[in-house]
Amino acid sequence: MSDKRMIRIFDTTLRDGEQSPGASMNLNEKVEIAQALVALGVDIIEAGFPIASPGDFESVSEIAKTVRGSVICGLARCNEKDIDRAWEALKHAEQARIHVFLATSAIHREFKLKMTQEEIIERAVKGVQRAVGYCDDIEFSPEDAVRTEKNFLCRVVEAAIDAGATTVNIPDTVGYATPKHMGEVIAHLKNNVPNIDKAVISIHCHNDLGMAVANSLAAVEEGAGQIECTINGIGERAGNCSLEEVTMAMRTRGDYYDFDSNIQSQKLVPTSRLVSSITGLQVQRNKAIVGRNAFAHEAGIHQDGMLKERSTYEIMRPEDVGFAKTDLVLGKHSGRAALADRVKTLGYSLTGEQLQHVFDRFKHLADKKKEIYDDDIVALIQQQLHTDNHQVEEENQWELVSFKLQTETGKTPKVEMTLKKGNEETTTEVTDGDGPIDAGFLAVEKVTGYNLKCRDFSVRSTSLGHDAMGEVNVEIDHSGHLYRGRGLSTDTLKATVLAILSTINQIESDQ
Ligand code: KIV
Ligand code: ZN
Repeated sequence: MSDKRMIRIFDTTLRDGEQSPGASMNLNEKVEIAQALVALGVDIIEAGFPIASPGDFESVSEIAKTVRGSVICGLARCNEKDIDRAWEALKHAEQARIHVFLATSAIHREFKLKMTQEEIIERAVKGVQRAVGYCDDIEFSPEDAVRTEKNFLCRVVEAAIDAGATTVNIPDTVGYATPKHMGEVIAHLKNNVPNIDKAVISIHCHNDLGMAVANSLAAVEEGAGQIECTINGIGERAGNCSLEEVTMAMRTRGDYYDFDSNIQSQKLVPTSRLVSSITGLQVQRNKAIVGRNAFAHEAGIHQDGMLKERSTYEIMRPEDVGFAKTDLVLGKHSGRAALADRVKTLGYSLTGEQLQHVFDRFKHLADKKKEIYDDDIVALIQQQLHTDNHQVEEENQWELVSFKLQTETGKTPKVEMTLKKGNEETTTEVTDGDGPIDAGFLAVEKVTGYNLKCRDFSVRSTSLGHDAMGEVNVEIDHSGHLYRGRGLSTDTLKATVLAILSTINQIESDQ
């Protein structure tokens, strides 16, 4: 058995992560991510901020009712209404935690809260006491702790622990700390808060200066026992400490760090892919641990070294973080069993029905594309999961029947498109698009009657080769709500139309 200090991993992808612009998720998606986080070995899942909206309440409540194996946490400001609402959402959890926060820095006290130091302490104590009335696992966060006067921070933390907080979280809310500074803050608390041993010290770092992971590790070196982080490092502004980076740093540098976590590292890549596909926030290619290039060796000297001995240029093995080690490319003759095996190797667990849908699409794709790579299969799986999470009654869905596209250099494209809803087919023609994609948007608008405010549009190739599939993601604003749609096809215009129709179907199912 390892004699290392085990650090609790508190994942806030569903709360702080969801605060990333454009990253909102629906209920099914949140439950799916929560289940993946349990499988990943996360100790505490911050499922949301129940008072923030009815949708947030519902998802925290559903996760509390259905997800087992990790502590489920809900966020609340330091007031009765928030705390009562958080408990209402959490009450069915196997293990529940209420997370109460209140800003403590001079800037926040003066400009945001207009409260004195004494008032802050009084409010913090009352909030923690109210939460203690509901459950015995209470976390308290002095928001903007890093910019709070050190001695006042010690007083607040001491009072919160006395009131019953079992975890005290030290947020670097604006990503201002440096590693040495962060270590000093934690050391100061350890040395100056008399009851500090009665609570776990937690660290919550934002990444505005790109130091969230380094700052979190520095805090742990000084005695913090919990790290708050998110998958792919998503979160408010520049994001939070990245779960995959911080946990792999501990593990890979086990020679240096005397601490580790319970994270099942082989699930890091599949979980990263899941979150990226649900939120639509793509992971940059060179992102540490989970980026597509994280283990790609380009320079000849590096490749030569790798062939002789991989440790010359690799400090981690790709398979240890969940990149499947497969040299086999699937194709037209591969059967259902081969696909099922690959799906499992890639870290996904699909129901029989989901696998069948993916297999049908796989066969269809194999007719068009000779070699099907892992990235193509991941795209097909994610498309299926996306469809499952945005299910709309079938008879009311808009569907693409066909389109004809004519383009010529120097001329506007001509698109003739037929869409279907129920049994009714409508055909239209558009000749004034600013390129084929714009013409596709205009044609869909003309048939469906929607005036679409497109907030984001991206196309990427799912794998290698000029016959690769194009994945289109669109974000449409409808009455202040953002809807995300995805389309996948070897034909980019078709992928675009499928993505737009998927958002329209979601809009209509919400009405
Ligand atoms: O960054 C922050 O201060 C937070 C708190 C609510 C913990 O997210
Ligand atoms: Zn935060």
